[in-house]
Amino acid sequence: MQKVFINQGITILPEILNDLRIKKIFLVVGNNAYQSIENLIKPYTKSASIETFIMTDSNFKTIISGCEKLKQSNSDLIIAIGGGRIIDAAKLISVTALSKENYENVIRGKEIIKNKFLPLLVMPTTAGTGSEATSFSVVYLGKKKFSIASEKLLPEYVIADTSLVQEMPNYLKACTLFDAFSQAIESFWSVNATDMSRKYARRAIELINMNLKGYLNNESKNTKNMVEAAYYSGKAINISKTTLPHALSYFLTIKYNVSHGHAVALTLGFIGKINYNSGCDNLKKVMNDICLMLHIDIKNFEKYWYNLMQVGGLETKLSNLGVKKEDLELIVDSVNVERLKNHPLNIEKEILIKELNKIF
Ligand SMILES: [Fe+2]
Repeated sequence: MQKVFINQGITILPEILNDLRIKKIFLVVGNNAYQSIENLIKPYTKSASIETFIMTDSNFKTIISGCEKLKQSNSDLIIAIGGGRIIDAAKLISVTALSKENYENVIRGKEIIKNKFLPLLVMPTTAGTGSEATSFSVVYLGKKKFSIASEKLLPEYVIADTSLVQEMPNYLKACTLFDAFSQAIESFWSVNATDMSRKYARRAIELINMNLKGYLNNESKNTKNMVEAAYYSGKAINISKTTLPHALSYFLTIKYNVSHGHAVALTLGFIGKINYNSGCDNLKKVMNDICLMLHIDIKNFEKYWYNLMQVGGLETKLSNLGVKKEDLELIVDSVNVERLKNHPLNIEKEILIKELNKIF
């Protein structure tokens, strides 16, 4: 069972270190903020020594070198402080299955992760991906994206606090916010949704909808609520997984460098509309429930969504993002089949291309 401390400050950290009798910490951080992060946690980690591993990128060589450094470090606990990319990498570093030889087998799902090397405590610095709450990790092998799933990847401890949320450009804030928002909405309509996952998704949707504008304007109260929302969005997709908007997003991110949350949000507006217009009665009800949480009429879902993206400063036209018209078909063809299976409606390729043309 994960131990979670949301918006309770960082003072819980020395208590955890004491309880676990931690002598040495293996700290995983990103390359841009590691100095300020080390300084931030120093007062709370006095009882232990720290070996820092800086993630320069998310390539498998860096992750493997992290695994090897960890094995030599004699540490008792891994602490990862950063955004989703850092937390995802630290999750992989925390398991023992990874070595140069079997890395490819593990990411291609041919080999199961069997054991944990050390427990992992994560402290997210963005209010967005919800990676702290999931048992999957996204990595790249060359330009191909893989999502690895294993119970062993779930961090044992989460300290998510407003004081950890790093300042970042508004565009990136909007991208992480729309990732969390899309994840929560997709989770709610996913074929794998359960009462529990819907409870988490509802909490995230309502919090994000209420706090979106204030969060983008750096209001601390709203940031606090976004930290909680991001966590619940992660909890929700950990059960239900993501669906069609995520499945369609990867081509835009890999080929056109569109940030993940932005790429996902681009198609969610029209997919929500199609879900209602062409879905069965049950799916219509699900879409109505989502709209009740957003305080809108279902007829306005698509318009509401693209307006919100514009409020967040996210471009809603594919052509303005440099996407070429001849690639619209490729976006649909390169869809992630695993994610597609979670979508509650089978939408024909021609309809998707027609809708992509409308947002071109
Ligand atoms: Fe996502």
